[in-house]
Amino acid sequence: MSALLELTFVLLALASCRGLQDSGIDEEPELVFQPSKFGSLWPLPQKVQISEVSFKLSPSNFQISDAKESRSGSSCSLLQLAYRRYYDYMFEGVKKVDRSARADPTELLELQVWITSPDTECDSYPTVSSDESYELSVDQPVAVLKAPKVWGALHGLETFSQLVYEDEYGAKSINYTTISDFPRFAHRGVLLDTSRHFLPIKVILANLETMAMNKFNVFHWHIVDDPSFPYLSKTFPELSRKGAYHPYTHVYTPADVKMVIEFARLRGIRVVSEFDTPGHTQSWGKGQPNLLTPCYSGSKPSGTFGPVNPILNTTYDFMRKFFKEVSSVFPDSYIHLGGDEVDFTCWKSNPDIQKFMEQQGFGKDYSKLESFYIQRLLDIVTTTNKGYIIWQEVFDNGVKLKPDTVVHVWIGSGTNSEMSNVTAAGYTTILSAPWYLDYISTGQDWQKYYKVEPLSFNGTEEQKKLVIGGEACLWGEYVDATNLTPRLWPRASAVAERLWSAKEVTDIGDAYSRLSVHRCRLVERGIPAEPLSPSFCPHEYKGI
Ligand SMILES: *[C@@H]1O[C@H](CO)[C@@H](O)[C@H](O)[C@H]1NC(C)=O
Ligand SMILES: *[C@@H]1O[C@H](CO)[C@@H](O)[C@H](O)[C@H]1NC(C)=O
Ligand SMILES: *[C@@H]1O[C@H](CO)[C@@H](O)[C@H](O)[C@H]1NC(C)=O
Ligand SMILES: *[C@@H]1O[C@H](CO)[C@@H](O)[C@H](O)[C@H]1NC(C)=O
Repeated sequence: MSALLELTFVLLALASCRGLQDSGIDEEPELVFQPSKFGSLWPLPQKVQISEVSFKLSPSNFQISDAKESRSGSSCSLLQLAYRRYYDYMFEGVKKVDRSARADPTELLELQVWITSPDTECDSYPTVSSDESYELSVDQPVAVLKAPKVWGALHGLETFSQLVYEDEYGAKSINYTTISDFPRFAHRGVLLDTSRHFLPIKVILANLETMAMNKFNVFHWHIVDDPSFPYLSKTFPELSRKGAYHPYTHVYTPADVKMVIEFARLRGIRVVSEFDTPGHTQSWGKGQPNLLTPCYSGSKPSGTFGPVNPILNTTYDFMRKFFKEVSSVFPDSYIHLGGDEVDFTCWKSNPDIQKFMEQQGFGKDYSKLESFYIQRLLDIVTTTNKGYIIWQEVFDNGVKLKPDTVVHVWIGSGTNSEMSNVTAAGYTTILSAPWYLDYISTGQDWQKYYKVEPLSFNGTEEQKKLVIGGEACLWGEYVDATNLTPRLWPRASAVAERLWSAKEVTDIGDAYSRLSVHRCRLVERGIPAEPLSPSFCPHEYKGI
C-alpha cells in the first residue's frame, strides 16, 4: 500500500466522524486506518512475523512450483490449478515483460510448495478432520510453503498472495516473513439459501471463490425450502418439475451440483447439503402427492397442507429412496437434516393425526409426534452411512440422537445457555445464532460479528471442545444474484477471522485496518464487496 493511500485513509476516517454520528451509531469507537504490522493478512495467522526487509516480484521472473522434495509429484491438478489462480490474482493487469530481461538480484523468484505427508489428499474431499495447517517462509531468492496436506497448501497460497503489495511506484513487493498457521475451529461455514430466491451457478461459484479468500471451508447449501425446490432429483424428477420456480431455468441439474462440489473441493471447501423436513416443505408437496399433511377446517380438508405427514408408511418409503440418492450425490460425510420451526397447527386439525396421537399415547404433545418422525428419519439416514447435522429444536425436543450428531444453534443472539445445554449433553455443536447476516443495518455491523466469542458460554473444558465452529447465514428472503455478494462480503469476513484466528485476536482497530485493505483486495479480484466506511480503493470495482 502506498504512503499516499495510507494518508488518504486517515484523512477520510477523520472526515467520516460526522457521518457516523448522523447515522446514529456514535456509540461505536471511531476507527482510524493505521497500517497494521500484520499488513493486510485476513484472517490473521496463528503466528506471523513480517520484517521490514522487502523484495520485488515480477510477473516475468516469478513462479510457483512444486518443491523437489514434495510428495505431491507434479500430477496434482488441484495444486497446479491453484498455482495458476494465485499467480493471476497477484499479477492481474500487470504487463509481462520480456522473459529474457534479467532479474533484479534482490528479486523473489519462486514460491516452492512442499507437501510433506505421503498421503497428500490431492484427489480426496476435505473433511471436518482435514489437516489445514501450513508453514510459510518468505526469503530471497526462494519462498517455501510447507504443508502436510494440500488443504494447508491452499490456505498458504492465499496467505502468500495476501503478503504481496504494491510499493509507492506500483511495483509488486513482499517482505521477509515467517508464518506458522492452522485454524482455531474445524468447521467454518457460509449458509446460502437457494429456495427463497434461485441463485445462478455463477453466483454460487463466485461465493465459493470468495470463501476461499477468507479460509472458510464449508458451504452449507440450504438448497430447498417452502418457496421452491430447485434440486433436480434423478429418483423423483417431479419434485423440481412441479416445485421449482421454473422446471428448466430455475433448477440445479446433477451436472450443476457436480460442478459446485468439484469447484468447492479444488478450494478446500466441503459442500454440506440441507434438505430440511418435516417443516419448510411446501414446495416438496407439489411434485410428491400425499407427502404433506392435509389440513382440516372443521371436519373437511381445507385444501391446504402442513408439514410432512408423519403417520404414513409411504412417507418413510419416499424418504428412504430420496436420501439414498442425496447421500450418493453429495460426497460429504454429513447431511444437514433441518428440523427447525415445525408448525403444529395443521397436524392438530387433522383427525387421522389425532387418532394416531391417541394410539401412540402422545396425548396432546405434538413435539412427541415431531420426534417420532425425526427419529425414523435419522434411522433412515444412518443406513446411508452419513452423519447428520440438525437445527437445535431437534435436540430441544428430546429426540434420541447418535453420539456423533452435530447440533446447529441458531436461536437467540450471542452465545447462550443453549450452547451450555447442547455441549453438556455431549453433542458436537456449531454456532450461527450471532451470525445471521441477512439482518442488515447501517454502519459497521461487522464489528458485532467480530466481537463474538464462541466459547463464552458456561461450561467445562470438555464442553468447549465440542464446539467445532460456526456458520455465517445469509437467508434468501431479500437476497438474489443482484445483491448477494455485497451483502455477504466483507461482513462474513469478520466471522471468518473469528473462526480461524487465535482467541486473543480481538483488537478491533487492527482488524479494521487489515479488513479495509482485505476488502480492497476482494474488489481488485473482481468481487463487489461493500465498503466499510468512507474511503477508496487503489483499484476500484469496475462493474460487471
Ligand atoms: C514491509 O517493508 C516495508 C519496506 O521496508 C515497510 O515499510 C513495511 O512496513 C513492511 N510491512 C510490514 C507489514 O511490516
Ligand atoms: C406400516 O408399517 C407398519 C410396520 O411395518 C405396519 O405394522 C403397518 O401395518 C403399516 N401400515 C400400513 C397402513 O400399511
Ligand atoms: C438449558 O437448560 C436449562 C435447564 O434444563 C433450562 O432451564 C434452559 O431453558 C435451557 N436453555 C435453553 C436455551 O433452552
Ligand atoms: C454462568 O453461570 C453463572 C453462575 O451460574 C451465571 O451467573 C452467569 O450468568 C452465567 N453466564 C452465562 C453467560 O450464561
